[in-house]
Parts: sequence; C-alpha cells; structure tokens
Amino acid sequence: MVFKINIKYANRINRLPPYIFVEIEELKNEKERQGIDLISLGIGDPDLTTPDLILNEMIKQVRYPENQNYPTSMGEQDFREAVQRWYKVRFNIEFDADNEVSNLIGGKEGIANIARAFVNPGDIVLCPSPGYPVYENGATKLCDGEPYLVPLLEENNFLPEFETIDTSILKKAKLMYLNYPNNPTGATAPKAFLKKAVDYAEDYNFIIVYDNPYSEFTFEDYIAPSLLQINQNHIELNSASKMFCMTGFRCGWAVGHEDIIKGIRKVKSQIDSGSPRFIQKAVIKGLSEYTSEKKPKIVKEIIKTYERRRDALIKGLNGIGWKTEKPKATFYVWSHIPEEETNSMDFVKKLIDIGVVLTPGAGFGKFGEGFVRFALTQPIDKIKEALERIEKIINY
Ligand SMILES: Cc1ncc(COP(=O)(O)O)c(C=O)c1O
Repeated sequence: MVFKINIKYANRINRLPPYIFVEIEELKNEKERQGIDLISLGIGDPDLTTPDLILNEMIKQVRYPENQNYPTSMGEQDFREAVQRWYKVRFNIEFDADNEVSNLIGGKEGIANIARAFVNPGDIVLCPSPGYPVYENGATKLCDGEPYLVPLLEENNFLPEFETIDTSILKKAKLMYLNYPNNPTGATAPKAFLKKAVDYAEDYNFIIVYDNPYSEFTFEDYIAPSLLQINQNHIELNSASKMFCMTGFRCGWAVGHEDIIKGIRKVKSQIDSGSPRFIQKAVIKGLSEYTSEKKPKIVKEIIKTYERRRDALIKGLNGIGWKTEKPKATFYVWSHIPEEETNSMDFVKKLIDIGVVLTPGAGFGKFGEGFVRFALTQPIDKIKEALERIEKIINY
C-alpha cells in the first residue's frame, strides 16, 4: 500500500540506539526455525511461578466489582499503607503513606516517569554503565536530557568513583540512577558507599533515584540496604517483579521525599491509572508476609532455587577454566568474555550457533563491553547442558 504521509519520528526517538536485544531475538528465532534446541540464559525474567498465596489472593480479589474499576495512579490507600509497613519492618524506616509513597506500574515505569518530573532539555543525568538501559534511553533521552555515563569498573567493585567525575558535570546533574544489588554485574553496595553518594548529591544538588528491585534477591546471609536508611531526601523504586516472581503483573512502588513523590505522582496522574486493584491487593498479601528484615518463607523458597543454580553455574564455569566470581545477589552472573574474543556481541552470536543464549555486555552500555551476562533462569540440568556446550568452543 502506498503510504501518503511522510512519517518523521521526533528527534528524541531518533536518539535511541538500535535495540541490541532485537538482533539477538532474530538470531534465536532463526535457530529455532532450524530446529536447534536453545538454552536461554539471556533474559532476566524469573522462570519460577508466583507463589500460590499471592495468586489465590489475586483470584479472590479479581471477582470483586470494586476491583474492576480504574485504580488511582498513585496507588490505593491500603497498597500505600502496605508499602509503608514493609519499609518499617524490612528497613526500619518510617514513611507517610499519604504523601511519601506512590504505586508504579513496575519499576521501569518509575524510572522513566521520574525523569519527566525533573529533567529539562539539556540537563545531565548520571547513568551507571554498564546499567539497565532504561536509565540512559527511556528516561534521559526521551526527556531530551543528556546521559553522562558513569563507569562501573571491576577494579572498583562495580561502584562509581565520584572523584573521577568532573565537577562541571556534577554541578549540572539533575538526577543520578543507582542500582544495587546491580543488574547486570551482581555487585552490591556497602552502606559507606551509599553515604558517600548521598554526600555528593547534597554537595552538588542532584536527586538519587535508587532502583532497588533486587533488594530481596540476596544470597546466604547478605541483607541489602535501602538508600533511604542513609537519607530520606531521595527516592527509591522497588517492585513485586523479582521478589515475588511477578514480572507480568506490573506492580511496583516509589518511596521517598514528599516533594519528589509529588513530582512523580503529578506526571503519572496525566499518563496512567496505576496497577490494577486486584494486583495491588495480591501484592499487599505478599508484602504482609514480612515480619522483619528476614525474608519470609515465600521469598526464601524462590531465592534458594536461584542460589543453587548460581552455585552450579559458578562451579561449572570455573571447572572449565572460565574464571568467574560468585555474586552475593541478583540472579545474574557477570563474566569476562574469553581473551581471544574481540567483542561481546560476536561471542554471543557464536554461542547462539551452539545453542546457548547469553546477553552481550555491550547491551548494557559502553562500559559493559568485554563481558557477558548469564541469567539464572533455567533449571540446573539445563545450566549443566549449557556448560557442556560452552566447553566445546572455549579454549582455556
Ligand atoms: C535494574 C532494573 N531496574 C528495573 C527493572 C524493571 O523491573 P520492573 O519494571 O519489572 O519492576 C529491571 C528489570 O529487569 C531491572 O533489572
């Protein structure tokens, strides 16, 4: 059909990079058409199902007519109160559910909409690299802001080194995204680092958006902190996606300083209507299982499965000579590509040829090059099979 309208995308759309994951998806589809059985350790989406306790509540709640209407974009009162209570029992921080909490349609929505509330064209946003791509693209570039990539280097335990950022950049920064436990590196942040980040934010007048969706995805006895335990003048995002294996249900929350929450609520009130009420109710049920900072049984069971998989993968990788550190948190394993490989994308293509899908580090920004990310989203027997395939093509 002849298309008579001359389509021109907005400049901000043209600033978005080609989506590396689309290329991987196409390669995967091609292999599947050829009948190759692929083991995907690529996408960070839990393969375990949502706990029954939460699903049963959702099924009950969906039948009530009042849960079938529009929700409010900032979240229902009982949902905000459940988040308030969770922060109290989990992190020992007090918040006011009326003014300092908002529902999010998942953390991703919060990451993007917080930028709309605070970033003017040309403003600098400090984005960790490697990092969740939405900070740089969906949030900063779609607000006509300027992402400044803050390198997360292995020699600094994948933590930003504030001293190396030019003060002229820091002075122009409006927001900084931080994410620990970290996707993709699996790194964690000690409280002393968070204190330093908060001090820099105060000295240079920027807001920290602490993206904390892996706060419960921690192994052994490590308990992840909240940035708000250090200082409540920032904003923290979290969601039910990872802790309750609920990625498809789209429910998260933002907590922080009243004036920051006011900004995101204002944006959201003009764009969305919040997570469906029956889903908010189901998440309330999950959050109510917490009685202390320790994980309740429903979360512990999920994490234990990923911990066993992590141990199997790390043991296997080191066993074939691919030296890899054990992460303390997240369901990701981040590792160097073999020395003889030139870049992460070409290496990933080679692996797809032998039926293993990983994510190239370059997909997480320029400082991710030279690495690949494994997601622990396959059972142990599949992880072992993937390792057998990998062993055949790497020469350690
Ligand atoms: C660092 C990080 N932030 C945010 C998200 C978004 O999570 P959701 O929108 O499902 O809450 C993800 C998802 O993978 C993530 O890895």
